[in-house]
Amino acid sequence: MKLGTIIPCLLILALASCGNLQKDDQKIELVRKPYLQSAISDSISILWRTNTGDNCNVRYKLRGSKEWSNADGVTRITNTNVVEHEVTLFNLNPATIYEYQIFTDNQQFLVDQNLRFPSPIGRKDSIFSFFAVGDIGEPVEEGGTPDALAKALVPYVDSLKFGLLLGDIIYPDGKSEDYDSNLFQYFGAVFPYVPVFTILGNHDWHEPEENYVKEWKLPGNEYYYSFDYGNAHFVGLDTKMGDVLYDSAAQVKWLEADLASVGDQQDWKVVFLHHNGRSCTYKNDYKSVVGLYPIFEKYGVDLVLNGHAHTYERLNPMDGEGQVVERAMSTHSHYQTPEGFISITAGSGGKLRGVGTDPKPFHPDPDNCKYPNLVAASSHTWAFLTLKIEGKTLEGTAIATKDRKVVDQFRISK
Ligand SMILES: [Fe+2]
Repeated sequence: MKLGTIIPCLLILALASCGNLQKDDQKIELVRKPYLQSAISDSISILWRTNTGDNCNVRYKLRGSKEWSNADGVTRITNTNVVEHEVTLFNLNPATIYEYQIFTDNQQFLVDQNLRFPSPIGRKDSIFSFFAVGDIGEPVEEGGTPDALAKALVPYVDSLKFGLLLGDIIYPDGKSEDYDSNLFQYFGAVFPYVPVFTILGNHDWHEPEENYVKEWKLPGNEYYYSFDYGNAHFVGLDTKMGDVLYDSAAQVKWLEADLASVGDQQDWKVVFLHHNGRSCTYKNDYKSVVGLYPIFEKYGVDLVLNGHAHTYERLNPMDGEGQVVERAMSTHSHYQTPEGFISITAGSGGKLRGVGTDPKPFHPDPDNCKYPNLVAASSHTWAFLTLKIEGKTLEGTAIATKDRKVVDQFRISK
């Protein structure tokens, strides 16, 4: 090795040891509880954070079994100067419950005696439930309610296979420093048990450095991606600030190719993104999303889930031009083999319009309701949506965060 090569190497080694947070006398403490990511196919990733530490591993076993397996992971120092641990488990049995324990430098963190996760289900096991909600991480001291949302979800953790977080997850602008204070500290009884898939909202874009991808571990390029779960195909999109999609031409091309490749192989196609297309909430229609409607129609998308408007609204089935498909409706709550797709706003997670830092009263703009019969149901309250797929039936239930009353219910049968 030439001298010119050796010197940079020595420099790199010196920098690497400087970046190591391990100190002999420092007690290892958990700074972020475990959270579950990328629960797809036969694998799942478990991440957590500590103040210090060099290595990590997860012990896991099928519930009821006495045989533990071990998987080592990787550690990295984050942009907030703590240590992130990431362990991915492979070859999981489908549709079952695993128990797990997390270790940093051989020290176990007893977050809960009964840490557990549901392994992803297989194509044949087509009964599962998941939740969806957006607009969450507004600080409690500023009137936000991420704490109430997390508490409301706790009774459902064992019945939910995963969650979709519909953007605007960290207010005001998605700084890494705010992820624990605005979100993770409240979801310590949810995220260790229910995997979540996230997409970016306008408030999650912290430019010029996008912290979002440092906080989550998602499939594909993490901005837009898809995955199969049971008999359903899920597509997450990045609508950036709403006017123009992130990486627009490439994302749209990818979307078409992705949906085309699924064809009729899956019974359900669900798109989730942050901004609304047509809407009768106080938000305008976003042309960037309405512009995707022909693709949704062409490839048979069933459901489009979004946040952004801090309220709950479910629309009747629309076609590729955004027109309500009247013949699809027998009622506004049960759709038999509907043509078109149903679009739902569930931006009712943690920042309700008219409260706290969003004090403007909630007045849907009548000018936005120029489409006859567009709205099937709406409710201006804190709420999250649960969706249950059972073969060729999909049931949606919106649940009020405060008292867990049902604020909307609908069913699609094919
Ligand atoms: Fe938004």
